[in-house]
Amino acid sequence: MKTKDPKTFFIRTYGCQMNELESEVMVGQLKRRGLKRVLDEAAADLLLYNTCSIRDLAERKVMGKLGQLGRSKMRNKLIGVTGCMAMAKKETLFKKLPHVDFVIGTNNLSELNNVLDDVIESGQQQIRTEGEYDALDYTIAEREHKLKGYVSIIRGCDKYCTYCVVPYTRGQEVSRPHEEIEREVRDMVQKGYKEVTLLGQNVNSYGKDQPQSGVLFHDLLYKLDKIEGLERVRFLTSHPIDISVELMEAVRDLRTVCEFVHFPLQAGSNRILKKMHRIYTKEQYLEKVALLRSIVPNAKLGTDIIVGFCSETDAEFEETYQLFDEIGFSVAFIFAYSPRKGTPAMRWADDVPEEVKQERLHRLLDLYEKKAAQERMGLIGSQMEVLVEGVNKNGQLKGTTRCWKNVVLDGNESLIGSLQMVDIQGFNHSTLTGIIQRPLILT
Ligand code: 5AD
Ligand code: SF4
Repeated sequence: MKTKDPKTFFIRTYGCQMNELESEVMVGQLKRRGLKRVLDEAAADLLLYNTCSIRDLAERKVMGKLGQLGRSKMRNKLIGVTGCMAMAKKETLFKKLPHVDFVIGTNNLSELNNVLDDVIESGQQQIRTEGEYDALDYTIAEREHKLKGYVSIIRGCDKYCTYCVVPYTRGQEVSRPHEEIEREVRDMVQKGYKEVTLLGQNVNSYGKDQPQSGVLFHDLLYKLDKIEGLERVRFLTSHPIDISVELMEAVRDLRTVCEFVHFPLQAGSNRILKKMHRIYTKEQYLEKVALLRSIVPNAKLGTDIIVGFCSETDAEFEETYQLFDEIGFSVAFIFAYSPRKGTPAMRWADDVPEEVKQERLHRLLDLYEKKAAQERMGLIGSQMEVLVEGVNKNGQLKGTTRCWKNVVLDGNESLIGSLQMVDIQGFNHSTLTGIIQRPLILT
């Protein structure tokens, strides 16, 4: 018999930053209902899993977890599944997992408390995966961090890359009104936030679906830059085709905007790029990178790569490898292709054998590690701006640079929340170590 009066909840988030933010909003919703968050699953009356379906592994992790709940006493708790897997699997989730009480898709998250009422009153399973995007009230988000936070600016994706499930799990692009975003960021700054990361599947499309507003992505950056007390603006993620000269100039000119652009390449061969429907060639990609580097010489690049896409040959993978080596990315996420139901690529054979995919993946990861080590060596002796964010388990201060590098330094806890210029002296694994620059005192 399931509880009719949940007092505590547990939430686990899988997947991307957008999911993290949406979980923070759900935490806010449940706290408003009077529920208390607990970090121990066994102590909770309600278990919530905010899921991801970008790759098979992400789904398998959740299915494994939920299957395990069904075989334990935990199946008697209220159990909800939200997010992308809810959209991808819909009712079939109940067939495989009869102990799940409700399923809520990405467009219906604002209904969480109503769904919970319906489950409790009716004693029946509930599902909400249909309908248009229903604006979430982000102002109630209970953010994990107190100095830096995510801000959603655009949802969904209209690009339809052939391997990607996102346009189906998150729908068409919908931009949030800029006034609402500005209000939210101002509010965060008043609460002490120093840094925001603007989120969207493709932030560079911001505003294109709302031509009457006349505010595109770079315009939004100019507006946010005026907010006093806001120190840093980051943004994730971009499609290379929409990275405009105006955006590059904003990165160069605006005080707050960090000099980092996520520039997902995905593959280095023109045939594969075409098959992926990435709508650029490798030459066009290289041209854009060169343009960005000419406008913002200190810009760092991030990327996403998929190896082993349908029919990718050894020679085509070599092109990806060469390009990766040539461009030099500061951050890279590298994945083996994973066929997703409902995507155009499902029509084609997933014909690169798993061991070949893994070999390509590891070759690229090794190259990435080699280049990352070179980059770290090159940073020794440089000065970098660090936002001091907290204390690590050794009692040292920790923070991040404008280009996402983690840094540890010695200093007093009173510096948490401040920006410091730091002399980089070395590194420990991928974390840089440094000391805070002190002004010379002349006597
Ligand atoms: N298989 C492997 N990787 C994928 N990505 C998206 N879909 C797939 C898939 N089917 C990767 C892309 C994207 C990142 C978020 O996940 O590189 O940029
Ligand atoms: Fe997926 Fe392509 Fe949209 Fe990125 S741009 S979310 S990879 S469809």
